[in-house]
Amino acid sequence: MLQGFDGGMLFRTFDHSKRPFFLIFVPLLKKDDLLLNMDSNLRTVTTADGSVTLFLPDRDETYHSVHGAETESMHVFIKNGLEVAANDKAKLKVLEIGFGTGLNALLALLFAEKNQIAIEFVSTEKYPLQKEMVLQLNYGKRLLADELFLQLHTCSWNEVHPLNAHFSLFKHEGDFREANLEANSYDVIFFDAFAPRVQPELWTIEVFQQMYRLLHPGGILVTYCAKGEVKRTMKAAGFSVERLPGPPGKREMTRARKSD
Ligand SMILES: C[S@@+](CC[C@H](N)C(=O)[O-])C[C@H]1O[C@@H](n2cnc3c(N)ncnc32)[C@H](O)[C@@H]1O
Repeated sequence: MLQGFDGGMLFRTFDHSKRPFFLIFVPLLKKDDLLLNMDSNLRTVTTADGSVTLFLPDRDETYHSVHGAETESMHVFIKNGLEVAANDKAKLKVLEIGFGTGLNALLALLFAEKNQIAIEFVSTEKYPLQKEMVLQLNYGKRLLADELFLQLHTCSWNEVHPLNAHFSLFKHEGDFREANLEANSYDVIFFDAFAPRVQPELWTIEVFQQMYRLLHPGGILVTYCAKGEVKRTMKAAGFSVERLPGPPGKREMTRARKSD
């Protein structure tokens, strides 16, 4: 005989001949329950280079490296992503998985301005941050772009916003796997989802096949993640995969390329 209920806090079991005994279960929360409550859980953390990031205690996960949020974003996404793609193109289409704090978007905007490159930036976000949280981030101040940083966050979702002569932003609100994105069109993908430990469902072969389809031939996907299993999954999805030196605190990062 087994008694209990779906949320599964307490089960009372009888093993016929013996006395009843009780098993206590921690309630089973679905992954999304935690992520959906992110804003009530999130805390700010100052990282080694002075830039702030967000920490999700329930998952023991930060939005960026604690060895330097801005340093990591510059290294992984700008230096090893945008800069490489901009070598042979003056107009780039970039897709970001996870808009989050908007740090990558701001760095990409500043890169476009400085290098006079036209960037069409599409970013997807399933769990947009509350304004109070955004106001605690110090990227705008540090990069002398306070106004632009606020605009990145306050501009409406699901519409194109030309934010200056070189940079337009389209923020897609929702799960990137369900977004209506044009195939064969992106030069660079910033794959900046939470780590495989936290969101394993976003590091599957299906997801990498989808990313492969979205990339322009010769296009690249960059990510901070350098796990062997992730690289094998990328290869199985069709990518050629490079290991690159990582940002401070990480030995490696990954760049994956779609064939020409
Ligand atoms: C590691 S954080 C990085 C965010 C951002 N690039 C930044 O610099 O702050 C991962 C982001 O992915 C978002 N995310 C998680 N699952 C997602 C999904 N299925 N579709 C789109 N975004 C998602 C999270 O809410 C979070 O903002």
